[in-house]
Amino acid sequence: MSCRVVVLLSGRGSNFQAIAEADLPIEIVAVISNRPQAAGLAYARGRGLTAVALDHTAHADREAFDALLADEIDRHQPDLVVLAGYMRILSPAFIARYEGRLLNIHPSLLPMFPGLKTHERALAEGVKIHGCTVHFVTAMLDHGPIVIQAAVPVRADDTADALAARVLAQEHRIYPQAIRWFAEGRLVNMHGCVNLKDDLQSQAVLSTGTEL
Ligand code: GRF
Repeated sequence: MSCRVVVLLSGRGSNFQAIAEADLPIEIVAVISNRPQAAGLAYARGRGLTAVALDHTAHADREAFDALLADEIDRHQPDLVVLAGYMRILSPAFIARYEGRLLNIHPSLLPMFPGLKTHERALAEGVKIHGCTVHFVTAMLDHGPIVIQAAVPVRADDTADALAARVLAQEHRIYPQAIRWFAEGRLVNMHGCVNLKDDLQSQAVLSTGTEL
């Protein structure tokens, strides 16, 4: 039985596209956007997927909107909920409801640069390595257990746009990988650190620095 996935997005949806086009053992059972005009919704419809617009501007109260969103998600009975550029802060009740089956991608090497404008901040700090992170979502914004990260070099003449494009290419690689691991039941969360099942030997080797 394949893993049932609901995708939440707010805009362009390039991460969602990368996930949809990867050969993964999942079924995308719905794509939901808080912005009716999101390009990602149009792409979902084009692929014949269930695409739902739930306009948050029609709901003043965050908790009330999140409750509606959760009702819509639950109608599709997902094993996993994937945030793919979902640009709204989620209420604690929503996060608690999906704990352990809610993934996000963030365009920085967390715990560096949580929040917005990550590429501009990376350039302003003069970091030499930047990147992206897939993590489980917890109540603390951009701080949940890390599943996978990818690093890119920061070049002396980089603009925020150039750096963003370099990072985005890696996002499109690691998000499908993280979802595959989840779908295969290989992610083990040990005290807030995620390990890969069946990879304990290499984990041990890495932690001791010993060669096989
Ligand atoms: C990505 O940079 C992602 O890391 C962040 O929002 C952006 C979404 O881009 N959370 P897209 O909509 O997937 O193209």
